[in-house]
Amino acid sequence: MASLSVIAVPSSEDLAYGICDRIGGDFVRASVRTFPDGESKVTLGGMASEERSVVVQSSCPPVDTNLIQLLSLIAKAKERSAAVTAVVPYMGYARQDREFLPGEVVTMRVLGRLFAGAGASNAVTVDVHSAAGLEQFALSTKNVSAVPALAEHFRERDLKNPIAVSPDLGGKDRAREFGKAAGIEHTALEKSRDRGTGAVRITTKNASEVRGRDVVLIDDMISTGGSIVKATQFLRKHGCLRVSAACTHALMVGGAEEKMREAGVSEIVSTNTIPGGTSVVDVSGIIAEAL
Ligand code: R5P
Repeated sequence: MASLSVIAVPSSEDLAYGICDRIGGDFVRASVRTFPDGESKVTLGGMASEERSVVVQSSCPPVDTNLIQLLSLIAKAKERSAAVTAVVPYMGYARQDREFLPGEVVTMRVLGRLFAGAGASNAVTVDVHSAAGLEQFALSTKNVSAVPALAEHFRERDLKNPIAVSPDLGGKDRAREFGKAAGIEHTALEKSRDRGTGAVRITTKNASEVRGRDVVLIDDMISTGGSIVKATQFLRKHGCLRVSAACTHALMVGGAEEKMREAGVSEIVSTNTIPGGTSVVDVSGIIAEAL
């Protein structure tokens, strides 16, 4: 038996294989059966290493189902392995990183306790929503960036005087990182979100710098597509040419892709932290390095 096992359920298998290929070790496939009431029953298809296991699972939609499967895998691996690393390429709940309104739960704090309680020794994640979230997550965690890999993808493109744009000020550093890696300029819009309804509004007054240029909107995640739609409409009003959308995690809920295309987004590029039609940038290498 190898000193390392990489464990995954079928939905994360492709990325987990890629990681296993790079770091070596035994691949242990886990199966999932869903009971009529929605409960997940997870079964390991082989023995976990006595030394170290790496469990790979994003907590993407269906978030709570994937989360319980991940926690179950960690707990099962820990029955045999001295150390268990949780690789959570997309960390769901990371946006609940502070008490925005009185009475709200800082769910990242709860998650940290759950992961530690299940038996994880440490974690690796990709482009977690915020540093504030990781501070609340009580487990030693490496957060790696897929932004250079996304930028590399766009370097090859024939874009007209491109500029990287973050749809909100919170993502300005990401746009800077993307711009630097792609060798292009960057800027950030100002966005506000209604805490009650979730509705998004672009509050930037002027974006004359995008006139006559192709734009790459860069964000950590696309969920409903609302942020990208509003940013695209705003940028088109200011005379930009083509709009591409790049993100690390494409959750794509509620017809997001269709809405973005309707708004005028010509290309959507994401990584395989969440498998899907837009997930063309592979993060197995950067995760393997972090392990
Ligand atoms: C927000 O701060 C995030 O960085 C994303 O911009 C946001 O979560 C995307 O969500 P949606 O696609 O629903 O606008």
